[in-house]
Amino acid sequence: MKKVNLIAVLIALTSVTSFAQKAALPQKKMAQLINDEFKFAADQYKILSKNIPEGKTPQSFEKGKSVNYDIKWWCSGFYSGSLWYIYEQTKDNAIKNEAEKALKTIEPNQTFTDNHDLGFMMYCSFGNAYRLTGKPEYKAVIQRSAESLATRYRPAIKSIQSWNKNKYWECPVIIDNMMNLEMMNWTSDNGGDPKYKEIAITHTNTTLKNHFRPDFSSYHVIDYDLKTGAVRRKATWQGAADCSAWARGQGWALYGFTMMYRFTKNEAYLKQAKGIAHFILNHPNLPADKIPFWDFDAQGIPFTKRDASAGALIASALLELGQYSTESEKNEFKSAAETMIYSLSSEAYRAKLGDNGGFLLMHSTGALPLNSEIDVPLIYADYYYLEALARYKKWYL
Ligand code: GLY
Repeated sequence: MKKVNLIAVLIALTSVTSFAQKAALPQKKMAQLINDEFKFAADQYKILSKNIPEGKTPQSFEKGKSVNYDIKWWCSGFYSGSLWYIYEQTKDNAIKNEAEKALKTIEPNQTFTDNHDLGFMMYCSFGNAYRLTGKPEYKAVIQRSAESLATRYRPAIKSIQSWNKNKYWECPVIIDNMMNLEMMNWTSDNGGDPKYKEIAITHTNTTLKNHFRPDFSSYHVIDYDLKTGAVRRKATWQGAADCSAWARGQGWALYGFTMMYRFTKNEAYLKQAKGIAHFILNHPNLPADKIPFWDFDAQGIPFTKRDASAGALIASALLELGQYSTESEKNEFKSAAETMIYSLSSEAYRAKLGDNGGFLLMHSTGALPLNSEIDVPLIYADYYYLEALARYKKWYL
């Protein structure tokens, strides 16, 4: 073996061992851990808040620099959403003020119609704000956002179109789109037009039909013929291959079908969610600390990158799925989510105060094949981590 290859292998081996060792540190009781993590999050986000230019939203921290994006980026609602989760647990008014400021920044998004991400942007933010304050002006923003998202519903394909037509796709629908349906269901169930929930259900049925393989793993992108509604191609954008199981995509699917069951009580959605959960939890490439590699079929496992955002998202979804399960399944999902939470809160993934640009979690992967956001903090990893902690406290303590 050439010297340079040997060094690369040794570095990779050290990093694999270090994840295992750091994640296996002595564990606190979950109640204490959750309390401590929210206190830490309040302090850390006060540092993060100083790194955000006016009118922008925080995304990551790369090569020693804060990365902030325009409000039209799909992640623009996660900062205020995270702040609301922290405020809910700490009652820290400085955090609440920052959450309100962050909402003001993204409010213009309510009329945005250029892609499907309105649910991520406006429900994680304004949805939590309304849940905690009951302010009617927040509800009005959610309702307006649902109307904007409804403009992307395409009757010919019976789905919401995710991205606009371009040189790669005619009418792409990505598995991530399931997440935007929470806002649609909620709006109809809370005095809005019933059409939003009808769209959510129709979209889910189409996803159920076309996005999944027999083993319950999901394709990332289905491209449709906009005239006939036929499937043109089953493919990926952020995964390792068209036929691979991109980790975060499996997480979006799990969370999406669990959430759709919450709003509809349709047993087919519950069955799908449980199938996805078992695909993830029984996968031979899921590491012992249960934080997935960026793609379950990535080349180079175990020497490739993790995706902490997928771990956080899956933990949060499993905790909800446990609520709709038999006692033995509930224990299985809860125990897996616990391992994920303990791993994420260990020094293998959770940053120290003042480090990581003020973000909570390290080691997420946005889009490895696009050479973008590899092994970095990502705002949505923090959001779903905080949500998982809050859900554990609400349902399991
Ligand atoms: N929704 C985009 C992503 O998961 O990266």
